[in-house]
Amino acid sequence: MIRNQWYAVLPSKAVKKGGILSARRLGIDLAFFRTEDGIPGCVADQCTHRGAALSKGKVKGGCIKCPFHGLEFETDGRCRFIPANGISSKEDISRYNVRHYPVREANGILCIWYGDNDLAAGEPPFFGGYIDDTYAYSEIEDHWNSHYSRSIENQLDVVHLPFVHYNTIGKGNKTLVNGPKVIVEGISITTSANNAVDSGQKPKSAEECHINPTFVQFKFPNIWMNNISEKIKVMIYFAPVDNENTILYIRFYCKLSKIRIFNKIVAYFGKFGNRMIERQDKRVVETQIPGASALKSDEKLIPGDRPVVEYRRIREALKREAGQM
Ligand code: FES
Ligand SMILES: [Fe+2]
Repeated sequence: MIRNQWYAVLPSKAVKKGGILSARRLGIDLAFFRTEDGIPGCVADQCTHRGAALSKGKVKGGCIKCPFHGLEFETDGRCRFIPANGISSKEDISRYNVRHYPVREANGILCIWYGDNDLAAGEPPFFGGYIDDTYAYSEIEDHWNSHYSRSIENQLDVVHLPFVHYNTIGKGNKTLVNGPKVIVEGISITTSANNAVDSGQKPKSAEECHINPTFVQFKFPNIWMNNISEKIKVMIYFAPVDNENTILYIRFYCKLSKIRIFNKIVAYFGKFGNRMIERQDKRVVETQIPGASALKSDEKLIPGDRPVVEYRRIREALKREAGQM
């Protein structure tokens, strides 16, 4: 995992007001909770007192309360109360503070900061300018038995389309890969498929290709969008569970009509299409060895893999920046 990043990890609706959700993310067992006022929190799911899972407790007065001996922790992990010591206790209890993960919530997604809490700043990346509240959306989730780098690379891979999706989005036997054109801007990678039927012509270079109106864009560390048209988008956030598992949250966004309920109905049916496509990908991506990808590896890449190479290059640069290499 790349440190010092905001990771989209859960849909907002998964953590109800006054509720707790236990979830493993980024290789850590976490307790997500939401105060009665709606403020989300995320702490390590292990009480500092004697190790019980805080996710088995309850939310009380803006705190998560351990089920074992009732220690209470605020959304920033601060221990507020130790019942056994009594309300009259004036003792400094900061040593009981639990590790917390800063949370940001926007666009119906809960994001956590993974890394040095003191560096948590800014807003998590999103596709502002493409997606806003005027769209209706549906969301499905699926658990992939793969490292998140592999599931992300798959969404930047234009070469696999006529093979993995031969009977769906890759129909037409367009096996020859022109380009693809890749545009890198900061933490974002944009590309689009320019594949063609192979009639013996030479593939076009990336320079001869352009980004189509239908394109895909990825933003580090873990969100991706397929701009199918101005009015239809598919968006995925890849929540890393640990080194072997990723949960894909896949949204179908629609604003074909001014009538919201119509858009909602289209989005509802769109999710079945998304399911069919992602299952085609999942079947193959789960078999990739080694589990995680790397810039330097034994893989023998081809020119069509350029978006994947860019992904690996930036990933490595961000890790270096975070002092991980
Ligand atoms: S283990 Fe949590 S209060 Fe004792
Ligand atoms: Fe695919």
